[in-house]
Amino acid sequence: MGCVRKVTEDLYWVGVNDKRLHLFENIHPIPRGVSYNSYLLMDEKTVLFDTVDWSGCREFLKNIEEVLNGADLDYLVVNHMEPDHASSMEEVLIRYPNCKVISNEKAFMFMHQFGFVVEGRKEIVKEGDTKCFGKHTVTFVAAPMVHWPEAMVTFDTTNGVLFSADAFGSFGSLDGKLFNDEVDFDRDWIDDARRYFTNIVGKYGPFVQLLLKKAATVPIQMFCPLHGPVWRTDLGYFIDKHDKWSRYEPEEKGVLIVYASMYGNTEAAAQQLASRLCEKGMTNVSVYDVSKTHVSYLVAEAFKYSHIVLASVTYNLNIYPLMYDFLHHLKILNFQKRTFGLIENGTWAIKSGSLMKKFINEELKECKVLGSQVSVNSSAGESNAPEFETLADALIESMK
Ligand code: FEO
Repeated sequence: MGCVRKVTEDLYWVGVNDKRLHLFENIHPIPRGVSYNSYLLMDEKTVLFDTVDWSGCREFLKNIEEVLNGADLDYLVVNHMEPDHASSMEEVLIRYPNCKVISNEKAFMFMHQFGFVVEGRKEIVKEGDTKCFGKHTVTFVAAPMVHWPEAMVTFDTTNGVLFSADAFGSFGSLDGKLFNDEVDFDRDWIDDARRYFTNIVGKYGPFVQLLLKKAATVPIQMFCPLHGPVWRTDLGYFIDKHDKWSRYEPEEKGVLIVYASMYGNTEAAAQQLASRLCEKGMTNVSVYDVSKTHVSYLVAEAFKYSHIVLASVTYNLNIYPLMYDFLHHLKILNFQKRTFGLIENGTWAIKSGSLMKKFINEELKECKVLGSQVSVNSSAGESNAPEFETLADALIESMK
């Protein structure tokens, strides 16, 4: 049966995988691809939960046709109107003219804006409304700003399945392995899940917290998100990650070092600090070149670690542009609650340290900059050795 997978006895995954797209939202690299998940419930009424990106529409329609096996489609529930999930609804509605669309007022407004014709087919629901499809009764729960304002999740009270929209999702193509227990998630998926969450939903932490509180009040057995694996075991592991990310609390004590270097001297300074840290026993250190690493990876790593060291050359009397871009991304994603250390470099006017400090103090919430700073004049020499020692000690001390 094509690419379809059975989720429960009467629920089917009818989504598609996309390994051809280079940039998710035309900004975030997805070397492992992405899945657009859609689910079809075969109850007395047939119900499709969300659709897929337009690029996968043909395969998606085939999946639906296979599962319906001649039956008509009665309902389409739209939990989220972003086009990677909703753009194929137009084609679904053309092919299944009796299909009614269930969603909230705001989502219908967005459908109108995108030009989807749903007049005469709308069933508007709001927070707490229920709908019975035969054996299954579902409740609709608002999830505003997770990740758009119209977002909602749908909870099947009959079997505990939560259609969780953008929540509990991940980058990465499924490649046949639909369930979290069919992969080694903590080894192979968590980095992409973190990068997905922090870059896509990271800004809306308080709204994710609201959703987590609502989710705690119902007996969820399974998460069926719009991207990535379906969760049917160990839900607490993933809930805990989302709880930390959305409270902007680090997952690990450790140091992320991001450096901006033109000729290798600032890079050498970053490596020197890494060596000092490891020598002192703090080996949970990751070092990245800001010029070679897409900012979405840096953002995800920043959410992971408790401490961040920025090492930047001074560029046109400013912070190196790509380092500034990283800081700007942290700001617009509402990043908070971290301790920073700084390494600055410059040949004739060293400015990057004071400018990065000002940015962190003025633009990032609940972040502090350690007093000890390394100031390099072109290349780190013997005179800098005590500064590296002091910064390494200060980082380790502030972890206690
Ligand atoms: Fe994958 Fe907010 O959509």
